[in-house]
Amino acid sequence: MAEKKSDKPARIGGYKPTQELSSGAMGNLWLCHDPSLDRMVVVKQMRETLEENSDAIKRFMREGNILAHLNHPAIIQPYALWKEKDGKLSLSMEFVHGITLRQLLDMCKQPPLWVVMAILYDVLGALGHAHRAGVVHRDLKPANIMIDVDGRVRLLDFGIAHTDNPLNDSEESLTITGAILGTVTYMSPEQTLGEDASPASDLFAVGVIASEMLLGENIFRGENFADTVKRVQKLRVTEKAFDKNIPAGLRKFVLKLLAKKPKNRPLTAFDAANELSEMMKDLPRDLNPYMGMWTAALKSEENSQKDDQFCNPPVYKTSNKSTFILGLLTGAAIAAAAAFLIPFVL
Ligand SMILES: Nc1ncnc2c1ncn2[C@@H]1O[C@H](COP(=O)(O)OP(=O)(O)O)[C@@H](O)[C@H]1O
Ligand SMILES: [Mg+2]
Repeated sequence: MAEKKSDKPARIGGYKPTQELSSGAMGNLWLCHDPSLDRMVVVKQMRETLEENSDAIKRFMREGNILAHLNHPAIIQPYALWKEKDGKLSLSMEFVHGITLRQLLDMCKQPPLWVVMAILYDVLGALGHAHRAGVVHRDLKPANIMIDVDGRVRLLDFGIAHTDNPLNDSEESLTITGAILGTVTYMSPEQTLGEDASPASDLFAVGVIASEMLLGENIFRGENFADTVKRVQKLRVTEKAFDKNIPAGLRKFVLKLLAKKPKNRPLTAFDAANELSEMMKDLPRDLNPYMGMWTAALKSEENSQKDDQFCNPPVYKTSNKSTFILGLLTGAAIAAAAAFLIPFVL
């Protein structure tokens, strides 16, 4: 993520930059203080070298525009898009105080099953909303998913997203013919073949992320770019690849997301979310009790302790049908024992 540090500007718009969060190919991200509302915000700024690149400018503006028209709790909320005096395009957005899924997986390669499902469920809900609005993300990967300290998931980085409703420009002008946009290790077979990405392509990426969380590694990652493309196109993952303690239903679910042909994947992200929800009935879904601890662990220096804290968090069971029935049975047993004992006591 973060490469070399950029010079910190004194001001960006009305905000005061406090820290550089990331410096990527497209631009830098600054954590800033907004004195008018006394809150932290994030500003994404386009790289100077891209300023003359009209496709990059359009894509940057499109990211802001797409985000502004998606309103979902698991999709990052933009605040404003403007051009700085020095010409830099800037997009301000809500600050997610938390960690990326990449950071989480770097600390714990295989999170507990319920954590995996809770994250996937939220990602699928956000995608369902985006797809319904005609937006395909096209670059889903753990670095573009964040979980905040309240346990809420956010999809980020709609920088190369495609929309059915181009507001000013034709889509063609934003597509570099023959070029592969996005990260190939999470890309669908059809995208690696240069075909258009569809909602089903995002579902394949969710399948790659899911299999990475369950297997402890991204099995599509090859030795080099060509090898990875080959694996994405040819590697057939089977149920045997997964540990026996992973329920058969979940294995089948992930394999369906990873179907090579888009038509064999779930019909929609909402369908996939519903299917997952059925499997999560008796499991906790709220990541809130753990995120504070995990975020703090990430920032602490004691790396050795992280794995245990992350991979075996205490589970606070949420109430469900079985605990309710157990409660009823215990209550009935106590009442029966009392009824039996009372005549002897009196
Ligand atoms: N709103 C945000 N709040 C906190 N961190 C963020 C936010 N947006 C991005 N980041 C951090 O910056 C990184 C890069 O942001 P991203 O939008 O993915 O830009 P890029 O196009 O450079 O990949 C993310 O992986 C995340 O670590
Ligand atoms: Mg990114």
